[in-house]
Amino acid sequence: MSGYQALKISDSVYWVGAVDWNIRDFHGYLTKRGSSYNAYLIIADKITLIDTVKAPFIEEMFARISSVVAPDKIDYIISNHSEIDHTGALKETIRRVNPEKVFASKMGVATLSDLLSLEYPLTAVADGETLSLGNKELVFIETKMLHWPDSMFSYLPCEKVLFSQDAFGMHLASSFLFADEIEPAILEYEAATYYANILLPYSPLVLKLLDRVTKMGLVAHVIAPDHGPIWRKNLNMVLEKYRYWASQNVHPKAVIVYDTMWGSTETMARHIALGISDTSGCEARLLRLDAVHRSEVAYELLGAGALVVGSATLNNNVLPRIADVMTYLKGLRPLNKIGQAFGSYGWSGEAPQNIQQMLVEMKVAVLDDPITAKHKPAEDILEACVLTGKKIAQKLK
Ligand code: FEO
Repeated sequence: MSGYQALKISDSVYWVGAVDWNIRDFHGYLTKRGSSYNAYLIIADKITLIDTVKAPFIEEMFARISSVVAPDKIDYIISNHSEIDHTGALKETIRRVNPEKVFASKMGVATLSDLLSLEYPLTAVADGETLSLGNKELVFIETKMLHWPDSMFSYLPCEKVLFSQDAFGMHLASSFLFADEIEPAILEYEAATYYANILLPYSPLVLKLLDRVTKMGLVAHVIAPDHGPIWRKNLNMVLEKYRYWASQNVHPKAVIVYDTMWGSTETMARHIALGISDTSGCEARLLRLDAVHRSEVAYELLGAGALVVGSATLNNNVLPRIADVMTYLKGLRPLNKIGQAFGSYGWSGEAPQNIQQMLVEMKVAVLDDPITAKHKPAEDILEACVLTGKKIAQKLK
């Protein structure tokens, strides 16, 4: 016996995925609590598997499927999202199961054929199309660019289960299957971190999708994502959180991201933070990059109104961790931020100017010329840092 069991999530739907307790890096995102790859089995006249798992976890998925039904009884496989964490096991699953049909969106068919070198003919489904499973039906909802061109949702109206692939997910390995079984603070933190690191660039599309789903009158009693726990209570809470994050509204919070060589840039950062937090109702988060991962910076920036970035100059440029985090943040396309560059230097002093350029390229509204300090910030420079902090706070209020 494997010890792997399918877990029931509604009358005819079972979770048959895998838990990855060990993963710590997801293409640059620190997954400090691991993750899961969720696959779902619908027991209907046409037995249907929704998504698969990352390749190394195929035996866990098959063991869970086998606890409910012999895998070769599966008639249909649906791929909601082509990324390898959900399709790494697809080719081998098709070989073992020999299903009647495999469905994906039009882009999904193209992507899967390329990625997996599939010889099996896939069937493309269109937005709004219905698929009969005999005694039940599934509806497909295209969610292009959330977060890949192929992405789609599948919805089981008779049990009001929405299979949402990456959306509404989080990287969280747990022995609990449902979101309401998990500590709320951890749940909110991991859901927000996931949004900030995966979905933020597509926020305008998230808003459109939420509006569209509301207009369709689609009501879900269960949201079954491809990562992390399943939502079966307080669904409005997660839907409203998505609407809030996607709106990119900001509050009086400044994120001060910096790296320092011998402490001078850190002293400047501390004084800017003092100026901000001296102003009632404003908060400053000091994020020193040798202690804070880039994906934590993305989390802290979600909802913050200011991005303040400092670096010492090394070899005529910014310190490497600043280049790393700024490249990462630029890709996430945060909106509605004001910003400020600062940093110390020994002789040439290019780093603050380079940061300013990066902020401009990110469409951050830069307040002033960079604040710079040669070797060690003198009192007048520290006063300028405090004043800049106050100015940032006034703008944020
Ligand atoms: Fe979980 Fe976009 O794959």
